[in-house]
Amino acid sequence: MISNGQLLHRADSIAADLARDGISVATDVLSPNLVFSLTAEARTQWEQDQYRLAQIGTGDTKQHATEVRSDRVRWWDDAELSDPQRAYKAELEQLRVAINRTTMLGLFEWEGHYACYPPGGHYRRHLDVFANARDRQVSTILYLNDDWRPRDGGELRIWTQAAGPDWALDSLTIDVEPRAGTLVVFLSEDIYHEVLPTRADRFSVSGWFRTRPTTVL
Ligand code: OGA
Ligand code: MN
Repeated sequence: MISNGQLLHRADSIAADLARDGISVATDVLSPNLVFSLTAEARTQWEQDQYRLAQIGTGDTKQHATEVRSDRVRWWDDAELSDPQRAYKAELEQLRVAINRTTMLGLFEWEGHYACYPPGGHYRRHLDVFANARDRQVSTILYLNDDWRPRDGGELRIWTQAAGPDWALDSLTIDVEPRAGTLVVFLSEDIYHEVLPTRADRFSVSGWFRTRPTTVL
């Protein structure tokens, strides 16, 4: 049985950080059991070759571009969620409610996938919004690397909001180690970030809270 409910205690402080700084980095926010179950599943599905090369852009502009990003992803399907996926989504639901209480974002639903960056994998500096998919408001990344060591690389480099679009300002970056149980939450349209090259398989659950899609008439 997967115990959940731990994130709930910190959902308000994560939401407050997000409202103030545009980003929250929190360690050990979930029960070790849940992180362990997600990790085991992510690795099993990797061994079963269930991941596909990630794409950049959407719709007509969808394309592979391994010089930009070289992770592989396994989308979570709402119709067939596993127990740990269901448990994590329940935690994220608490976070969604807290964020909506603290901000005016009006988050509606979450979509996400397992991601794996194999050795040499990286993702160049970017924002999590594509020109024709502006309904991604808040990005969430939960790391699943229980044996991560500094020499494995793959840190998440974040440009703090103060750096703005001037990304020469390296002093305004923070690097997050992709250690199991660390949850990073940030505003998708504001926070530039990059995945530094990895030297070992690097697993995570990446996802986005979205607003209700608007129909363009
Ligand atoms: C992404 C991304 C960062 C990470 O999937 O868009 O930026 O640390 N991931 O995995
Ligand atoms: Mn990203």
